[in-house]
Amino acid sequence: MADVITIDGPAGSGKSTVARILAKRLGYIYLDTGAMYRAVALMIKEKGISVEDKEKIKKLCESLRIRFSYESDPPKIFVNEVDVTSKIRTSEIDMLSSIISQIKEVRDAMTRLQREIAQKENTVAEGRDMGTVVFPDARRKFFLTASLPVRVMRRYKERREKGEDVSLKQIEDELRKRDMQDQMRSISPLKPAKDAIIIDTTDMSIEEVVERLISYIENC
Ligand code: C5P
Repeated sequence: MADVITIDGPAGSGKSTVARILAKRLGYIYLDTGAMYRAVALMIKEKGISVEDKEKIKKLCESLRIRFSYESDPPKIFVNEVDVTSKIRTSEIDMLSSIISQIKEVRDAMTRLQREIAQKENTVAEGRDMGTVVFPDARRKFFLTASLPVRVMRRYKERREKGEDVSLKQIEDELRKRDMQDQMRSISPLKPAKDAIIIDTTDMSIEEVVERLISYIENC
């Protein structure tokens, strides 16, 4: 049975970068489950499916072939063999993925696929419900947090570096809304697993967070 390390937390907590570096250091694969929800959101948008149309969404999820390619770093994500890696990183998909991730049919399909992927190889699984729902038996679980202003600033820098014309206020409004939606939904809400180690990354660099995680991993 392959080993799974889970990392959950809100947007901007640093979990994606940390999970990616940690996976590399340990020789594990990095499973970016947010990218999977983003990919579904993109397909719903491109096919013009209403978020109310659960039947169509269910059929769509059953027909989608989502896979990661680990030949590049960060990994690329393909849907039906089309590379959607950059298309899923927009403000519109940020919000749409948070809406469609509330749908049971979408979560069931993604959970199944996530377990399938992690069965084959040692995995660092990153998302919102990795420690609570998808891999409740994982031995090492982490939950990263950071203050809202720090998360806003991290996301703002990321977006500006990509050349996007966004304001701090816009990012703050989006993060607040997404946090609220992710925490308040009835299925698999964003919350730490009872046995997760919670790390506040507000005043920490990425390297410091990675070192902290490695020292926990080596000691348990
Ligand atoms: O992590 P990322 O910001 O890419 O995730 C996009 C959205 O996908 C989140 O806001 C959340 O609603 C959803 N998500 C989820 N469960 C996960 C990972 C992401 O519901 N395991």
